[in-house]
Amino acid sequence: MMLSLIEEAQAIDWYEQRISVEKDKQAKAIMKNAQQEEFKHFGMDLEFLLRKKPVWKTVLQAILFQEGDIVKLGEAGEEKAE
Ligand SMILES: [Fe+2]
Repeated sequence: MMLSLIEEAQAIDWYEQRISVEKDKQAKAIMKNAQQEEFKHFGMDLEFLLRKKPVWKTVLQAILFQEGDIVKLGEAGEEKAE
């Protein structure tokens, strides 16, 4: 599942690169739509892993969807996991 997460992130990046150079509006819209599927896949893979990996979950809960300095949130999350 970790490799699947990586592959979904790569797919998001590939679409990002293609979208950034595509001139045709319709082709760009189709690729954006396809990229959104990859966001969903990435999210499902990540959620699966977080449910299986309590330490990851502890660290990421301190970082994701929080306001403020990301580095400080990461450090706080790391401390919680220790
Ligand atoms: Fe995918």
